Amino acid sequence: MAALFTPFTLKDVTLRNRIGIPPMCQYSAVDGVTTDWHLAHYTGMARGGAGLVIVEATAVSPEGRITPGCTGLWNDDQVPGMAAIARAMKTAGAVAGIQIGHAGRKASANKPWEGDDHIANDAPGGWQTISPSAIAFGGGLPKVPTEMSLDDIARVKADFVSAAERARDAGFEWLELHFAHGYLAQSFFSVHANTRTDQYGGSAENRGRFLLETLQAVRAVWPENLPLTARFGVLEFDGRDEETIAEAIALVRRFKDNGLDFLSVSMGFSTPDANIPWGPAFMAPIAARVRAETGLPVGTAWGMDIPADAERSIVDGQLDVPMMARAHLADPHYPFRAARELGVPKASSVLPDQYAYWLARYPGPQNGDPID
Ligand code: NDP
Ligand code: FNR
Repeated sequence: MAALFTPFTLKDVTLRNRIGIPPMCQYSAVDGVTTDWHLAHYTGMARGGAGLVIVEATAVSPEGRITPGCTGLWNDDQVPGMAAIARAMKTAGAVAGIQIGHAGRKASANKPWEGDDHIANDAPGGWQTISPSAIAFGGGLPKVPTEMSLDDIARVKADFVSAAERARDAGFEWLELHFAHGYLAQSFFSVHANTRTDQYGGSAENRGRFLLETLQAVRAVWPENLPLTARFGVLEFDGRDEETIAEAIALVRRFKDNGLDFLSVSMGFSTPDANIPWGPAFMAPIAARVRAETGLPVGTAWGMDIPADAERSIVDGQLDVPMMARAHLADPHYPFRAARELGVPKASSVLPDQYAYWLARYPGPQNGDPID
């Protein structure tokens, strides 16, 4: 059996295989409430066979949305739609995950296909952003955020807790804190975004404080038997990577001591001037280092969709759960294709009976299990 198709158990949750779908914003919500689009999209992803499907970056407050079309869990009206999605994904055999976050200085932007740039504060969908320091990201995101007060910090941590409680009540079984990609939490950690002189800035320990305190607060309400995870940018590809990774690993060890169960290893995206070595599986060795030096199970995305690469990442002990994002947009039945490519007997069985029966009954090189 291919390692990619072996189960993975974390706390009381078992993924039917190691294929994870990382969060992907759909920019299709109304006032943070999911729509028919989300239900169909996530149900389709789960029916495709992945072990874990993580719902998109979901804002903990209105100002924490990346775009006006982002999902939210800041009020109770947003729970039923999310509960329907979690239920449908579980019925389809996937573990239902969700990412909660705050977009910080990258908030208040247009949808990617409408420009991906900041919306002026006085235009519809525009609002004043907040961040650890009053430093703009730059490029198409030029708005200068308001530096957060200590009250703001306490409020956002409380918003994370409330959103986690709603995610729990909606039936999600895997919670991912968005500590990556240049959004609010990553901005606290990043020297590109944080020049504070109080206890939330300066030393690596201080820059990690918001993340650690948020994790601790969420752990108190997230069920002990369910995985609490985070996605964290452990480097920026900005020329100071060794220092950043060392700081990040020290922080991840503290996350682990405070109840983190799994890390989705990613990049910081805190500066428009990064020099990223894009390519197949390029983040896998970095994730493997985090795994080795922290003892936490890890996953990563970023070009993990060549099935042989994903398989090797598990066999070689680099990753526990490779994540494939855009491959699932291209083909929600990607796990079936991967199973066939890896020579899994009864590859069709990764799909639901409604599809698998027919593919197994009439096997063939184009549409079903390989003919032996
Ligand atoms: P951008 O999308 O502006 O990307 C930053 C730079 O990386 C650009 O030069 C871009 O190339 C390049 N790039 C991005 N993705 C890829 C890729 N897969 N392959 C090759 N080059 C790539 O940065 P953002 O800060 O907006 O987003 C950071 C990443 O996170 C992106 O990959 C984006 O797709 C993803 N993302 C994350 C979200 C979240 O965490 N909530 C939401 C949506 C997207 P170019 O200039 O040619 O576009
Ligand atoms: C993303 N990505 C992303 N990441 C994240 O942490 N939260 C999110 O909500 C999103 N949203 C999002 C939307 C869309 C449309 C894309 C394409 C990407 C990043 C995503 O999870 C993944 O890391 C990248 O797409 C790289 O993986 P692949 O596509 O190379 O498998």
